[in-house]
Amino acid sequence: MRISVLTVLPGLFDCFLKEGIIGKAVQSEKVKVNVINIRDYAYDKHKVVDDVPYGGGPGMVLKPEPIFRAYDDISKKFGKPFVILTEPWGETFNQEMAVELSKKEHLLIICGRYEGVDERVKTIVDKEVSIGDYVLTGGELPAMVMMDAIIRLIPEVLGNKESLKADSFMDRGLLGYPNYTRPAEYRGLKVPEVLLSGHHKKIEEWRKRESLKRTLKKKPQVIENLLKEGKLTEEEKR
Ligand code: ADE
Repeated sequence: MRISVLTVLPGLFDCFLKEGIIGKAVQSEKVKVNVINIRDYAYDKHKVVDDVPYGGGPGMVLKPEPIFRAYDDISKKFGKPFVILTEPWGETFNQEMAVELSKKEHLLIICGRYEGVDERVKTIVDKEVSIGDYVLTGGELPAMVMMDAIIRLIPEVLGNKESLKADSFMDRGLLGYPNYTRPAEYRGLKVPEVLLSGHHKKIEEWRKRESLKRTLKKKPQVIENLLKEGKLTEEEKR
C-alpha cells in the first residue's frame, strides 16, 4: 500500500514516520509513504500556496493550482489515488472506515487548513473526513491519526496477529477486555485469579464476559444493535 500526503507542514510527519510500529512499517516498506510539500508545486517565485478569499472575510484559502499540479504528478508516478480531504465537517473517521481505507492500493490525503481549501479542489476528492467534532488548525494531525489506524491494519505490521482480533471495535463493535501484567499484586490491587490459572478455556470465557460487560457499560447502543440484529449468541445474551 502507498499513502501520499499533501501538506504545507511536512516536518510535522518526521517523528511519526520514524518511531515505533509506524516507523518499522515504513522502514520495511510494508507501507510506502511520501509526504509532499504543497509549496514544491507552487510556480510563482515566492512559492505562494494560499491567498485571500474572494468576496472577503478572514483567513487564507489554499490555492487550487499547486494541489492540482501535485495530484497530477503523484497520479502519473504512482497511479490514481483514492483522495481524502481532511475537513472538520467531513464524515467522521472510525474503525470501519480505517478497515475500508486499508484495502486501497494508493491513498492520497490532502491536509486542509482550518480556513479552508479552494472549493474546486473537491472535484478530485473522493471523501471528506473529520476525526471528531472540534476544530484544529490544520489537517496534519487528522492525517496522522488516520494513517496510524490504517497502517496498523496492513498485514504483518503488528507483530502478533492475534492483537488485531482482540482490538476494540474489531469483533462486531465489542470493546476489548481488561489486561493485566506482572506483578500479580500491587498496592493491594490484585490481578483476577482466573488469569493466573493457566486455564485457557476459562480465561477465554472470562475475557468474553468482561468485553460484553464493558461494552454494555460504555457503549450500550452497540449491545442494543447487536440484539436487534440477532448478532449475539444465546450464551452471550446470558
Ligand atoms: N481540520 C480541522 N479540524 C479538523 C478535524 N476535526 N478533522 C479533520 N480535519 C480537520
